[in-house]
Amino acid sequence: MSQFGGIGLSRRIWRLNVKKEGFLMIKIAPSILSADFANLEREIRRISAADYVHVDVMDGIFVPNITIGIPVVAAIRKVTELPLDVHLMIDRPVRYVEEFCKAGADLVTVHVEADTGENTRRALELIHGLGKKAGVVVKPKTPAEAALPFLEMCDIILVMTVEPGFGGQRFMEDMMPKLRQLREWIDEKNPSCELEVDGGVDPVTCKTVIASGANVLVAGSAVYKAEDIPGRIQELRG
Ligand code: DX5
Ligand code: ZN
Repeated sequence: MSQFGGIGLSRRIWRLNVKKEGFLMIKIAPSILSADFANLEREIRRISAADYVHVDVMDGIFVPNITIGIPVVAAIRKVTELPLDVHLMIDRPVRYVEEFCKAGADLVTVHVEADTGENTRRALELIHGLGKKAGVVVKPKTPAEAALPFLEMCDIILVMTVEPGFGGQRFMEDMMPKLRQLREWIDEKNPSCELEVDGGVDPVTCKTVIASGANVLVAGSAVYKAEDIPGRIQELRG
């Protein structure tokens, strides 16, 4: 018994060291939901210091808002080399994931609440089948356990820290135990999986989410309302 305890402890220390040496790189994914849609090309150029472009797709059914769709993803693809992180807030996303991949998404996330487990698994397979990265998203009221059946198939898990639908909402600090739990499971079961947070991330709350284990931070208003966007992106890295 003590032998196993010892192994567990040395693993934990190793993980801490990995983080300390800076290997857990913090990535910033500005959400273009807060950009000026009349000047999208310019708005994407303004975030060239970021790691991903976060694209919020809403259908007016899964969430009470309608934003952008497949043709816009295809248009954005032509004006940036940055990977496109497409967050699908749509009902039964399995119907559309391939089209988003073909339009140029590099990473596609689907909500676990948006369909059956079987269809969610199928959606992840379809995304992988086109050589793209795939992940699941959990809304604030959805427990961490809901992501667990998909963990080993995921390249990323996204934890919402606001109710999906709109930018500029208040950060929900009470999501941190969920984030910590998912970081623990990721480290145990699928260490290359990324852990993303979305909603209310700013220069103060970024420190909280990083301390709770997130390594990809979505930020809409905190990036686009900043005077110095490259400076703000750097600041959000914690
Ligand atoms: C909300 C979206 C978010 C939103 C974040 O449904 O998924 O990506 O744009 O905006 P901020 O950072 O302003 O909370
Ligand atoms: Zn989003």
